[in-house]
Amino acid sequence: METDSQRIKIAVQKSGRLTDHSLNLLARCGLKFTKSKDQLFCYGENMPVDLLLVRDDDIPELVSDDVCDLGIVGLNVVEEKRLGRVHNGDDFRFKQVFELEFGHCRLAVAAPEDSDFSGPESLQNSRIATSYVNILRNYLQENHIDAEIVYFSGAVEIAPKLGKADYICDLVSTGGTLKANGLEEVATVLDSEAIVIQTQAPLSDDKQALVDKLLQRLDGVLQVHGSKYIMLHAPRSALSEIRALLPGSETPTVLPLEGTDEKVAVHAVCRENVFWETLEDLKAAGASSLLVLPVEKMLA
Ligand code: PRP
Ligand code: ZN
Repeated sequence: METDSQRIKIAVQKSGRLTDHSLNLLARCGLKFTKSKDQLFCYGENMPVDLLLVRDDDIPELVSDDVCDLGIVGLNVVEEKRLGRVHNGDDFRFKQVFELEFGHCRLAVAAPEDSDFSGPESLQNSRIATSYVNILRNYLQENHIDAEIVYFSGAVEIAPKLGKADYICDLVSTGGTLKANGLEEVATVLDSEAIVIQTQAPLSDDKQALVDKLLQRLDGVLQVHGSKYIMLHAPRSALSEIRALLPGSETPTVLPLEGTDEKVAVHAVCRENVFWETLEDLKAAGASSLLVLPVEKMLA
């Protein structure tokens, strides 16, 4: 019989910038969940994989403390926790296993629009408000800057207006929040995206096999992103030119065509988007009967 400890638990942000993407990605990996009434726990219906919906800031610890086996979380959150633990002399017990190519944002220093910021040295002896104390401390040390870090747990962007800080260091995605508060981005501290972290505690063979399977499916989902399957007819003489025009494809399949020796059929997976311009170039090179199909699943 399957026990609770044989099930994989994944920590996912409950509500925020990563939530929809994370759940969507897991669905595309073939996982189905029943939501519980409190919506904190989602039971995996078709695989022994459950979700814990939590605050993103709690995810690194849930994974580090083995409450969850995997977590989907922003690199910014992971780095902040990791550097905090290092600073306190504690070890962090999770490893980064995957970059997910969504949730792109950056941790940046921003200044009031009328400030005369002229490079990181302008931060010298200033006060910077942030909730990312550990990443900012690290950045200042690396750039040999002495500045006061003022901790804000939220609403960091109002700190300059309140006279509590000269600059802020906060997450920027669209830039809308900065703009609305009369601030402009002046230095990037960390580029971030969603990642998968795994506990460093050894998993049972069954569990590790399941984690590997899940990561392989995730890899497949990410590879499919933007990929297209392209089919065309080409004169044999133009084959090398046509192959060179196929975006991001390594080895196309070349098939004979019934009733002709001059023409062949070419099928290829293009790992990049195929634009009209590409099709027009292919046609100009002699290709005909061009067909572009979406790729739904891929397993390397
Ligand atoms: C961040 C940040 C800003 C906002 C910036 O908060 O603190 O408020 O996003 O995004 P924008 O550039 O698109 O306007 P987030 O929503 O991640 O909340 P959290 O830090 O409380 O998790
Ligand atoms: Zn948060």
